[in-house]
Amino acid sequence: MSTDFGMKDRKALDLSGKVVVIVGGGQMPGPGLGNGRATAILAARHGAEVVAADRNLAAAQETVDVITAEGGKGYAVAADVSDKEGCQKIFDATMSRSGRLDGMVYSVAVNPPFDPVANSMTTEDFNYGIDVNMLGCYYCNLFAAQCMEKNEGDTTGSIVNISSIASIKNELGLNIGILPYALGKAGLNYITELTAAEFAAAGIRANTLMLGPINSVLGNHDSQTLFGLAPDEVEETYLEVVKLKMGRGTVWETAYAAVYLLADESRFMTGQQIRLDGGATLIR
Ligand SMILES: NC(=O)c1ccc[n+]([C@@H]2O[C@H](COP(=O)([O-])OP(=O)(O)OC[C@H]3O[C@@H](n4cnc5c(N)ncnc54)[C@H](O)[C@@H]3O)[C@@H](O)[C@H]2O)c1
Repeated sequence: MSTDFGMKDRKALDLSGKVVVIVGGGQMPGPGLGNGRATAILAARHGAEVVAADRNLAAAQETVDVITAEGGKGYAVAADVSDKEGCQKIFDATMSRSGRLDGMVYSVAVNPPFDPVANSMTTEDFNYGIDVNMLGCYYCNLFAAQCMEKNEGDTTGSIVNISSIASIKNELGLNIGILPYALGKAGLNYITELTAAEFAAAGIRANTLMLGPINSVLGNHDSQTLFGLAPDEVEETYLEVVKLKMGRGTVWETAYAAVYLLADESRFMTGQQIRLDGGATLIR
């Protein structure tokens, strides 16, 4: 009996020939890696041409420099996803330079400034958080899907929206500081389902990758500003709070899950919320 089943010589998670946009493909300045940058690097290692889009062009270019130094392909696009035009710019630039789009990862988030003593936030700051965390995701899903619709073949594109367990889990001590983030991510979860339903007939998939605590620059920064925890205290706190004692994940766990969702191996998966959280939402 043949044990090949037609898959033996297949390279796993091969993204060769695919063009993948990573929105949030730069990263917040500071030591360590971000989820978007790690995903961009890993997608390029798996053969994709990567478009690193970010409001911070220098950070996006740093990601591209890592990719090209490793022999991969990519370029940076400066864009602010807090408005529709900024979102459109990313996909116009991609189509004009690469002529196609196969994957899009929305890996952007902001926590607007707030006053922890008065537990208050300006309406402008609140709205900005919703614009970036949610509306930008909606427009990037829409514009990405409209590009992917032009592709030929059975599976024409895959969208990965990066969410957070903050969208489904309350924490004691949370306040207005996390509201535009948590609401935005809850909206993002819903947008994924909309995209998956709306574009399934065109062979386009969309999934949510819902992260728990990940050791990234932004994760450390927000733990400090929202909860007053220094980076070393963050690890201890999660070990204490999460019963399964898995601590924090690394950005590479995010990147491998995202690459799986971008690749054809996940072609039967759409509209899902995948929790990558070390069991943080399973048992407390
Ligand atoms: N680190 C964690 O613990 C954690 C947990 C849950 C979810 N996440 C999610 O992971 C994703 C990536 O976050 P990260 O922790 O890797 O940080 P990061 O610094 O790598 O990513 C954020 C990126 O978004 C960019 N950005 C912010 N506002 C923008 C705007 N208006 N337009 C364009 N780009 C903008 C920043 O410049 C930065 O490059 C986010 O969606 C975040 O919510 C992270």
